[in-house]
Formats: sequence, C-alpha cells, structure tokens
Amino acid sequence: MTERSSFLEEVLGGLRQEQKILPCKYLYDAVGSQLFEQICELDEYYPTRTELAIMNQSVDEMADQIGEEVLLIEYGSGSGRKTRLLLDSLQAPAGYVPIDISGEILTESAAVIAKRYPDLTVNPICADYLSPVEIPSPDRPFRRRVVYFPGSTIGNFEPSEALEFLTRMVKQVGAGGGVLIGVDLRKDPAELERAYDDALGVTAKFNLNLLERINRELNGNFPLESFSHEARWDGDLGRIEMRLVCDVGCEVTIDGEIIGFGAGEYIHTENAYKYDVTEFESLAVKAGLSPRSVWTDPAEKFSIHYFAVSEAFC
Ligand code: AVI
Repeated sequence: MTERSSFLEEVLGGLRQEQKILPCKYLYDAVGSQLFEQICELDEYYPTRTELAIMNQSVDEMADQIGEEVLLIEYGSGSGRKTRLLLDSLQAPAGYVPIDISGEILTESAAVIAKRYPDLTVNPICADYLSPVEIPSPDRPFRRRVVYFPGSTIGNFEPSEALEFLTRMVKQVGAGGGVLIGVDLRKDPAELERAYDDALGVTAKFNLNLLERINRELNGNFPLESFSHEARWDGDLGRIEMRLVCDVGCEVTIDGEIIGFGAGEYIHTENAYKYDVTEFESLAVKAGLSPRSVWTDPAEKFSIHYFAVSEAFC
C-alpha cells in the first residue's frame, strides 16, 4: 500500500464514524512539524521548557542511574538540547541509535550528534518506532540498552496503547535495560487548555493544517474558514482533546467521497493524556518496569522517570 492510499483509507475510515476522528500522526507533515517546533517555544506551552529545566537540574543524577557504557536508543530524533545534555553527562556511552520515521530529520540530527561526539557510534534507523524495530549492536561492547523517550509523547497514546508500547520497550532493551521517559502531569485544567489553545493561534494553525494537508494530498475541499480549533480538558479521562469544530454545516469531498458535517459537529484529532506520578508508575509496572527515580520541577508540572526492567520480566 502506498503512503497516499493508507493516508486516504485512514482519513475516510475516521470521517465515516459516528464520532469523526483523524489519527494524530498525520498532524506531523513538514508544515506540521515546523508548527510544532513553534508550539514548543510558546509562553503557554510549558512542557518543553519545564522538561529541559528538570534535565538541566538533574541530568547528572539521571546519568548515574543509567550507568556507564550504555547503548542509548532514542524514539524520535533528538538533535536538540535534551539529547545533548544527556549525552554530555553519560559516562562513556557505547552507542546512540536515534529512530525516526522522517529520513531527512534523522540524517540531519544524526550528523549533528556524530560531529559533536566523534567517539560515539551513531546508528540512525529510519523507521516508525510504533512498529517493532531491530536494534543494531555497536562495534564496542556495552553494558545495557536504555530507551530515551522525552517530550511526553507517551501522553498522545491511549493508556492501553501506552501499556503495549512500554511492554515493547521492555522487550527491546531486555534484561538489565532501562527507560528514561518524560511524562506531563495533571494540573489546573485552565492551564492545560491554554497550553493547547495559545493566544497567537499557533496550535490552531497546527491542527487546521491537517485539513489543509487533506485538501493538498487527497484531493479534498475542506472550507478552512468553516472550521475552528478547540482544546477541551476531560477530567474523567484525564486528557486534553484537540478538536476541529465545524461552525456551520457543510459537505466536503475527499477523493470523490462526500462527507457531511452538521453545524457544531467536530473531528477529534489528538489526545494528550496527563498522569499523576504514581498513576504512570503503575502503568509502567504492568509493562514489566520497576520505578527507580523520578524527577519533577518545583511546581510539579512535568516528570522524568527512570525505570529498570524488572527481573521478573527477564
Ligand atoms: C508531541 N506531543 C507530546 C504534543 C503534546 O503536548 O501532546 C503534541 C501537541 N499537540 C498540540 N500541542 C502539542
């Protein structure tokens, strides 16, 4: 199946449902990824700078927990400050394996890392890290495999998917392995809704870009002026929901198929689950991980956890 045909199938499949949905992975084309970079700089979007501040404060403790001569596997490409901070603090890392679906971003970021750490074996893998990926071993011996998964991207998964994903990480790092993961925490709903609906409208653009993308790539005709971005906190489910609301009823054609929208009907485009520290630890324990350390900022907005693979699961 080509990329276009699976995009089309998933879009039509999602829009034919009673509650219309679109998979959030399609938010990240080149334009969407650029807009997401801008989101990370916004005043209202606290996760990026808070996670970075925690890293700045505690990266040496994280490196102590992780230990010497590790093979570091990063999901999503990290050429950024968080990855550099970690690599600067690790004791004689044996290798670094960034995994990213975008070949271009991966090549660029792997080159930046390889240049900065000439003694490090950098083995980029262009793949969707949501599917099983074979990890190559570096030339040098290593003591353990450790997955680094920053950014609270785990919050974009349904809890059942997060459990499945963590279970796969456990298999990937194996006995003696570890996982360093960033997780956004539950907080005041108003602060959360502001973080996902900023005053400059960047998150709105990011969300609406999905409709533009469908128009561009799937021969669609969404009238963009009829849709608006919304971010809603659902306290029962513990998640922010991003939506695209159709303000007036309309009909949209996508690759020849007509989809009707009632006034006020919305497309659900993304979830961002927020956890309590202990709630996330319980999820990780079910996956076969054992909590070792957790670091938070003074206001307890964000957390970074280090887990080791539980002996019982080896
Ligand atoms: C990528 N992910 C962790 C972001 C989040 O906070 O859930 C995606 C995002 N969507 C809107 N703003 C940010």
